[in-house]
Amino acid sequence: MLKKNKLYYPGKELKNKAWVKNNSIYIKGGKNPIKFWGELAKEILWFKSPKKTFIHQPPYFKWFVGGKLNITQNALDRNLKERKNKVALIWEPEPLEEQSRILTYYDLYREVNRLANALKRLGVKKGDRVGIYLPMLPEVVISMLACARIGAIHIVVFSAFSSAALKIRLQDTKAEMLITADGYYRRGKIINLKQSVDKGIKGTKVKKVIVVKRAGNKISWKKNRDLWWKDIIEKEKDECKPEVMDSEDTLFILTESGTAGQYLQILHTTGGYTVQAYITGKWVFDFKDEDIFWCMADVGWATGHTYGVYSPLLNGVTFLIFEGAPDWPNPHRWAQIIEKYGVTTFYTAPTAIRMFEKYNGKISKKYKFESLQILGSVGEPINEATWHWYFQKVGKGRCPLVDTWWQTETGGILITSLPGVGPFKPAFTGLPFPGIKFDILDEKGNSLPVNKEGNLVILPPFAPGLLRGIYKSPKKYKKTYWSQYGNKIYFTSDVAYKDKNGLIRIVGRVDDVIKVAGHRISTGELENILSKHSNVIECAVMGVPHEIKGEVPIVFVVLKKKMSLEKVKKELIKKIREEIGPIVKPKEIYLVEDLPKTRSGKIMRRILKRLFTGEPLGDLSVLANPECIDEIRKRILSKA
Ligand code: WTA
Repeated sequence: MLKKNKLYYPGKELKNKAWVKNNSIYIKGGKNPIKFWGELAKEILWFKSPKKTFIHQPPYFKWFVGGKLNITQNALDRNLKERKNKVALIWEPEPLEEQSRILTYYDLYREVNRLANALKRLGVKKGDRVGIYLPMLPEVVISMLACARIGAIHIVVFSAFSSAALKIRLQDTKAEMLITADGYYRRGKIINLKQSVDKGIKGTKVKKVIVVKRAGNKISWKKNRDLWWKDIIEKEKDECKPEVMDSEDTLFILTESGTAGQYLQILHTTGGYTVQAYITGKWVFDFKDEDIFWCMADVGWATGHTYGVYSPLLNGVTFLIFEGAPDWPNPHRWAQIIEKYGVTTFYTAPTAIRMFEKYNGKISKKYKFESLQILGSVGEPINEATWHWYFQKVGKGRCPLVDTWWQTETGGILITSLPGVGPFKPAFTGLPFPGIKFDILDEKGNSLPVNKEGNLVILPPFAPGLLRGIYKSPKKYKKTYWSQYGNKIYFTSDVAYKDKNGLIRIVGRVDDVIKVAGHRISTGELENILSKHSNVIECAVMGVPHEIKGEVPIVFVVLKKKMSLEKVKKELIKKIREEIGPIVKPKEIYLVEDLPKTRSGKIMRRILKRLFTGEPLGDLSVLANPECIDEIRKRILSKA
């Protein structure tokens, strides 16, 4: 890597082998983005070519209109010609003594078709919703692809989510089928997943539950409803004709947290998503046939969908999925996996990188990471120190570090530096992907100059993979994304600024969504949950900085009746665990007499946050009850 001032550039060798070698791609993409994407779409196999590339009916839009395709034909069938016996998927189990599982492209093709045939036999049709509540097993990949094969819409639910979180997602999408497992390993323990299912599907429309036998734990069984995976695919054929999907037919739904505690059932369609997942992987990770790609994200998140499953398959590369936690049974595990398989391309989140950094000296000295060629980061801003650590200690200063910005809504990466072009600037994500138009606006909608912070927006024609709606809720769709600046400008809810080279730095979210270890959680959602406790009058939740997780929630609670802090803590944490899962444990819970409020009764979370971090409080004249400040400060200091 070459260094000029504070920027890094790929050296000659890196550049020469990259798919994209120079800046001209940005000029081409900027000139006529619609034509640009229209050309790129030709790299995909279509049953019928699109008639028109883009149609805009604000706030709705369509890509590759009239095109017919199936994403699995591109991900599987297409690879059978030259890569039939090439490894598609490597599965690394959590227990060290257990064997990994390896599936070639042909293996995966057959497994997908068998499950697809079984689903059809069980009555699943095009457009039906199928819930997938599986840990990181090959079966999760097979399930997603089997749904896509027959045109069913998959709704993957993160396996660490609680039964209540599962229920909401199944109810909102009216899924009638669920694919799950008996259990799985997490930090040496067996998690009984089926137990969550039995609870979570009560009150939903789920009629059949397909169960993968993974951990062999004891589970309860309901005859005629529960079916073993192994039994249903046993007699199925290896061939299943891919359903002909319209470019705008829905491929999947993925739930995310929006503002004010609401859930967003985000809709992604087939054509645009396929093109974007394919081309962003190809150019950002510079996918080549000999690559071994490890995207560490769980498949329950957007990153796990696009770069953990679809993009590597669309590009015919070998990819790895890992059942366990990267620091279990020892902090070396992630590094051992990279060395064991010769991972070439490693994509993870700042929260994981900060955790690796904690064990800095020992691990980075011990491992040479000679196989690594490209490093990626996603999910939250990566600060300069962590960027440098990742670049120097893991990438050994030779691997381009692509800091990729995107959202569940965008379907794929939209801002980043390209590995063969650069520049790579610590803490900056980079330039908009070729053919994508961004701007940074003030509150009134004026475009802001260099170095000025403002709201990050996407301008038409947006991106082929951008969401097409919120399932059965056009109101939420319009309000969340298309109301801030009218219906022709997509509002990302992120604050950003650009430097003189146009490189974008993401500052954070504008709304009340926080990122805990990269997971999107709305503070309103947490407040809703906590308020359900019968002894809570009101509460306020906010995110505060945390050295590993990025942000963690802290909670201020006003109680109706006296109760010990210990008891409140225990009950509130249990409540969150039940409703969401173990991933968002609050760092601190404080019992206070009153919360700082404006005269109109709005809780001033900003002031609470500053009290916690010790920053100057700013103007308190807006408060109706400034006398509560001292008491809250005392509580924070005494942790009582
Ligand atoms: C944040 C994850 C800074 C951002 C794929 C965005 C980032 C939200 C980056 C979406 C990055 C994502 N640098 N911030 N490279 N990538 N974000 O839906 O606030 O889980 O709006 O999608 O994560 O989170 P989501």
